Amino acid sequence: MRFKKPFPEIEFDHMRQSDLQIVADIERQSFSDPWSLSTLREAIGGKNPHSHFHVARLNQVPVAYVNYWLILDEAHIVNFAVSPAHRRKGLGKYLLAESLECIRDEGGRQVHLEVRRSNIPAQNLYCQLGFRLVHIRRRYYQDNDEDACVFHIGNLLEVDLEA
Ligand SMILES: CC(C)(COP(=O)(O)OP(=O)(O)OC[C@H]1O[C@@H](n2cnc3c(N)ncnc32)[C@H](O)[C@@H]1OP(=O)(O)O)[C@@H](O)C(=O)NCCC(=O)NCCS
Repeated sequence: MRFKKPFPEIEFDHMRQSDLQIVADIERQSFSDPWSLSTLREAIGGKNPHSHFHVARLNQVPVAYVNYWLILDEAHIVNFAVSPAHRRKGLGKYLLAESLECIRDEGGRQVHLEVRRSNIPAQNLYCQLGFRLVHIRRRYYQDNDEDACVFHIGNLLEVDLEA
């Protein structure tokens, strides 16, 4: 493990079928437009060879997850959340930093993601990990017509993930 764990019982791993139900619960608690159980299942099912799904487990129970697609040297973070009961403990930053390290090891150099304009907690976290706001997509989210902020890392090799 390369990054300091926010607490020792945390385990960083690939998502398994047995994590699905709890991850779906966190998903519903975290988003106004949550992914369904079947969408989550597809993301780990191997149909999409570019999809990578990681979890952080606390005492074997998933408490945070991230899903990204990696195509050649470009990664797109497509889903990321921490269980409401475990927020503000450094878990989100830890999991995303570990995942960025995996992306780097797998040859990824650019990383991008979309985040709601109102989602200041996530934007603060992304800035801490070297992402920069590069673009606004107007009315990107269909459930409430909210704008998306596009955040980008241009060269992962230049980011100090342990800062
Ligand atoms: C965004 C989210 C993943 C952050 O996870 P977390 O584990 O609570 O974040 P961390 O404890 O690792 O915090 C890291 C940094 O993020 C920022 N941050 C996190 N929560 C914040 C909040 N409520 N308000 C302001 N900044 C916040 C801070 O800069 C924090 O650093 P600090 O503790 O030194 O101030 C979590 O709030 C979440 O799951 N939200 C709902 C789902 C979501 O928005 N996902 C992202 C979609 S793009």
